[in-house]
Amino acid sequence: MQKFVYEYATKVYFGEGAVREHLSAAVSEYGKNVMLAYGGGSVKKNGIYDEVKKILEDAGKNVTDFNGIMSNPTYAKVQEGAELAKKENIDFILAVGGGSVVDCCKIVAAQARTDKDLWEMEMTDHQFPTDMLPIGAVVTVSGTGAEMNGGAVITNEEKVIKAGMAAAAPRFAILDPAYTASVPKMQVISGAFDTLSHAMETYFGNSDQDNVSDDVALAIMKNTVVNMRRLIADVNDMQARGNLMWDSAMAENGILKVGRATDFQAHQIEHQLGAYTDCNHGQGLAVIHPAYHRHIAKDAEEKFARFAEVVFGADSAEKGVDALADFIKSCGLPVKMGDLKSKTEITPEILRKVADTCNVIKCGPRELSRDEIYEILMECM
Ligand code: NZQ
Ligand code: ZN
Repeated sequence: MQKFVYEYATKVYFGEGAVREHLSAAVSEYGKNVMLAYGGGSVKKNGIYDEVKKILEDAGKNVTDFNGIMSNPTYAKVQEGAELAKKENIDFILAVGGGSVVDCCKIVAAQARTDKDLWEMEMTDHQFPTDMLPIGAVVTVSGTGAEMNGGAVITNEEKVIKAGMAAAAPRFAILDPAYTASVPKMQVISGAFDTLSHAMETYFGNSDQDNVSDDVALAIMKNTVVNMRRLIADVNDMQARGNLMWDSAMAENGILKVGRATDFQAHQIEHQLGAYTDCNHGQGLAVIHPAYHRHIAKDAEEKFARFAEVVFGADSAEKGVDALADFIKSCGLPVKMGDLKSKTEITPEILRKVADTCNVIKCGPRELSRDEIYEILMECM
């Protein structure tokens, strides 16, 4: 184990009815002016918006809506939210949605407190915000685990870069599996694949073999796969939705990462693919992972063999990668670039740009060259 300091910023309320039970008290310690942030309208259709708004108003809050946060939130949307927060003198932001809404709000929280260009400040000057509005999250679709960490993934459309930024960690997160009941099966499965990816990317980071985090990561991977299968068999299986919701938070709340190096190369490639295509994050990962793993399995053979055995009951590193590919197919997830919904046609030229602009991770099983990343991407065509 490497040295680490662990502190937890987010208080979690989990379970059916958790919003009704806890939201009012959770917001009571913050100021009167609350920004209620959400996405493209699912919360209006399923009644979540009405329920949350009433709880806030009954708690004596002045509520300002910030709506239309798109999947793969843009830096322009962050600026819109920050302007609104400044204009309305917002004291607290409540993000109601999935990774996209939560991430957007995390950066709005920081941008609302400074006139500096936050992107430049973080990416060019390597300075990170410390003064941020407090935020809370009500999760309506799980997978990213964004509600339990202080990072946000934002697309800068002008620069054609999708990247992680340091931002406000939610003070609290409310996870009610019933709030995800209206999420379509394919979105649940795509989100759950993102969870599986987070645990794999942490596990395959170059670390000691006896790291306790490895065992926890394997348990999360196994549970995620089991519950994805359950959900495919019965989309209304609330026990499975609940398990996947907590798997999602566990995979990205930092617990798996303590005391170890992580990989996240597949994520870096997918984020840049997302910058060019706006594709669904979990689905982009489903396409990339098997090809990426085929390239690196020999470099961490023992770890891949253990993954194969524990998660898929397969008896070699290679068979584990095959089992992962078969599992992706059996879930109905995209397996080729052409299966992804994309705003532009995915051509070899686009993939070359993705390979040339994504981050290259040094602590995966092996550092990849940009040509090899391109090769991996082309194998997904
Ligand atoms: O926008 P609305 O209408 O609300 O619809 C959303 C959206 O279309 C819908 N949805 C949400 N709750 C629903 C619902 N539909 C029906 N019923 C409900 N209860 O679900 C769709 C997807 O939502 P989105 O938030 O985009 O999905 P997800 O949670 O997968 O978030 C993806 C974003 O998170 C980033 C990704 O890159 C991507 O930008 N990530 C954030 C991470 C983090 N901060 O830790 C880590 C991840 O690796 C990831 O990069
Ligand atoms: Zn992810």
